Amino acid sequence: MSETVQTKNQTSVMQTYSRFPLTLTKGKGSYVWDDQGQKYLDFTSGIATCNLGHVPDVIKNKVNEQLDQLWHCSNLYTIPSQEKLAQLLTDNSCADQVFFCNSGAEANEAAIKIARKYAQDVKGTSKYEVVTFSNSFHGRTLATLSATGQEKIQQGFAPLTPGFRYLPFNDFDALEDLVQEQTCAVMLELVQGEGGVVPADQAWLDKLGELCKNYDLLLMVDEIQTGVGRTGTLFAYEQFGIEPDVFTLAKGLGSGVAIGAMLAKEPVAQAFVPGSHGSTFGGNPIATTAAAATIEYMTESSILEQSNEVASYLHQALHKLVEKYDSIEQVRGKGLLVGLVVKGNAIDYVTKAREDQNLLILVAGPKVVRILPPLTATKAEVDQCIQSLEVVFQES
Ligand SMILES: Cc1ncc(COP(=O)(O)O)c(C=O)c1O
Repeated sequence: MSETVQTKNQTSVMQTYSRFPLTLTKGKGSYVWDDQGQKYLDFTSGIATCNLGHVPDVIKNKVNEQLDQLWHCSNLYTIPSQEKLAQLLTDNSCADQVFFCNSGAEANEAAIKIARKYAQDVKGTSKYEVVTFSNSFHGRTLATLSATGQEKIQQGFAPLTPGFRYLPFNDFDALEDLVQEQTCAVMLELVQGEGGVVPADQAWLDKLGELCKNYDLLLMVDEIQTGVGRTGTLFAYEQFGIEPDVFTLAKGLGSGVAIGAMLAKEPVAQAFVPGSHGSTFGGNPIATTAAAATIEYMTESSILEQSNEVASYLHQALHKLVEKYDSIEQVRGKGLLVGLVVKGNAIDYVTKAREDQNLLILVAGPKVVRILPPLTATKAEVDQCIQSLEVVFQES
C-alpha cells in the first residue's frame, strides 16, 4: 500500500494546489511555525481568512464554550448562534436576511440562484443572465467558475453553466453592452483579489450602479476576499458609496472556521422560500459561533481603526520601496488587501521572501505580489515585513 502512495507523488491528497515545500503546524497572531520549529511572519492570513490573526483568544473562548454544548443540529431547528450572527450581519449592513453555507463558492452559487429565482418570480423566465467581469474570481463550482471571467479557470470543464456574459472590468465603453433582454443581475468584486488586486474605478462603478437602477438589474457584490474588515471597513461596499442588493461573504467571516454567507435586501431575500436552497452544515453552531464572535469583535472593538492606521503605515512604506527599486512598479489595493506590481515573476519574490526571510506573502497573477497581513498586525510587524522585502528586492 505504501509503495502505491510513493509512486503517486508521495501523497494521497489530490494535487489541486501546487504546494510550497512547507508544513505549517502552529500559529499565533501574525506568526506561524513549521514542523521543524521555524517561525514565519504570516502576511497571507490564510489568503484573507485569519483576519484576526491565528488562533485569536476572543474567538477561541467562544468556540470552546460552544464545543461543550452542541456541535451540529439540522437547519430544521432554530440555531441560536445562527440567529445571533444573522442579526449582527443585518444590523451592520444594508442586507435584510442571510443564507448560511460553508464556503465562498457556495455563497456565490446561492447569489446566482437567488438572482435567477427573483427575476423569474418577478419578471418571468426570459430573465436569467448574470453579467460578470474580466479577471474576476467567483469560485470553483461549475456555476461559479462559469461566472469567473478567466479562461484558465474554466479550461477543461466544458460545457460551462449557461447564463453568464463577461464585460471588461473598469471599462466605461463596455457598459453600453451591459443590458440585454435576458440580463437580470451584475456580479463583481470591488477589489479584484485573485485577478491582481485591482480596485473598481469609482466613476465606472457609479455608472454601473446607475444602469442597474435604471434597468432594474440586481447589483451583487462578491465580498469574499474584501469583506470582514479586510479593506478598512466591515464591508468594502461602504467605501464605494453603493448598497448592493446581494453580497457574499466567506473567508474572514469565521476567523478560520469554515463558513459562507449570502446576504440580500428585501424584496430579493423573499425569493428564497422553503425548498429553494439549503445546506446540511450551513450556519452550524460551531461556525456561526466563531463568526458571531468575529463580527462582534469587529464592530465593538477598535480593531478597524487600528488596522487602518497600520494599513496606511504599510502603504507609505511600500510606496518608498517603489521609489527605491526599479523592480517594483506600483502599489495598489485598499486597506490590508495590498498588491505590488512587479517586473519579472511575482512568484520568484514570494519564494525568496519565504526561503531567505521567513516571510509568507502571496501572488495575485504572474506580475503581482499580494500582501495580506492580519488586521491585528502591529507597526513593528510591518517594519519586519518591509525589512525583509528590502532584502528581497535589493538582491533581485
Ligand atoms: C472573490 C472571491 N470569490 C470567491 C472565492 C471562492 O471562495 P472559496 O474558496 O471559499 O470557495 C474566492 C476565493 O479565493 C474569492 O477570492
